[in-house]
Amino acid sequence: DSRDPTSLRTPIVAVLGHVDHGKTSLLDKIRGSAVIEGEAGAITQHIGATAVPLDIVSSIAGDLVDPDDFDLPGLLFIDTPGHHSFTTLRSRGGALADIAILVVDVNDGFQPQTLEALDILRRSETPFIVAANKIDTVPGWDETEDSPINATYESQTDRVQGRLDEQLYEIIGNLSDEGFSADLYWRVQNFQRNVGVVPVSAMTGEGVPDLLAVMMGLSQRYMKEEMEIDVTGPGVGTVLEVKEEKGFGKTVDIVLYDGTIKADDKIVVGGQNDPIVTDVRALLQPRPLAEIRTESRFEKVDEVSAAAGIKVAAPELGDAMAGAPVRVVRDRDLEDVVREVEAE
Ligand code: GTP
Ligand code: MG
Repeated sequence: DSRDPTSLRTPIVAVLGHVDHGKTSLLDKIRGSAVIEGEAGAITQHIGATAVPLDIVSSIAGDLVDPDDFDLPGLLFIDTPGHHSFTTLRSRGGALADIAILVVDVNDGFQPQTLEALDILRRSETPFIVAANKIDTVPGWDETEDSPINATYESQTDRVQGRLDEQLYEIIGNLSDEGFSADLYWRVQNFQRNVGVVPVSAMTGEGVPDLLAVMMGLSQRYMKEEMEIDVTGPGVGTVLEVKEEKGFGKTVDIVLYDGTIKADDKIVVGGQNDPIVTDVRALLQPRPLAEIRTESRFEKVDEVSAAAGIKVAAPELGDAMAGAPVRVVRDRDLEDVVREVEAE
């Protein structure tokens, strides 16, 4: 596309949390709301990621945001698996992220992968908010589809409000035990110093407007300087997964966090031994609104720009490694690019 080269890069938002706490459901809800808004085509499915453009984010957030306050193109959400065996994938996702959402089931509270995610966020100094999910499961909950949290909270009985408050304060207490000063998001002034907790339901959409509004505010306020980078130069990314793909052989799923990658680019990928120098054979994107992790049919695209998730098919990828750097050569000196990949 022909974006202004000085335009802001799409912030990368990692969604982290314990298994079954609702990460994928939350992203499904955001995608589903866009479908209801009649904007299904505007949401692009990426490999392991979902791109939501600004106008969709603000239409879901409704009165909670004024789109004129923002000049970000939107948000790129990276889903991560909560299962304990996926530690490396989670830490890659977490380390790549500009900001993150930590999903915690209000019934289940803090669990091993919640703590692991907090460690990743602490080490990578990634600003994050907590989505206190499944508020609709509080006994007696009276749901209002897609409502901002304040309105739906006010319509609950005292007993239901009290029960939810207890669960939320438990989460705030757990965060404090881990050394994070946290509070309900509407009481947080500085989201870099304090962690905002947003009560949500991925099932009913309650609180999702608030979650998106807070994410927009957080990225716009604190990430701006880092986002003002060239989004048209040779691409730079990280391998999330190496996968065998029928008809394409070994492929790499990458998150591109800077620049562009084109279907005829030469690339250098970190390998188990030496960097792999190879030519892109195809850039593959899942078809719109198909389930990303199980999707087996792809659309070939000519070019993508950061931030994006994309599957790259190329010869010689057998030695590629999850977590390895990927760099596009284009008009740069090959030896320089190889040295950069070696040094990472
Ligand atoms: P992993 O990817 O396996 O780590 O799990 P996940 O965090 O992506 O959880 P997922 O979205 O798959 O949800 C797990 C289960 O919780 C599913 O049965 C969802 O339907 C259910 N669930 C998720 N969010 C909510 C919610 O807000 N309310 C209710 N009632 N159920 C929910
Ligand atoms: Mg999931």
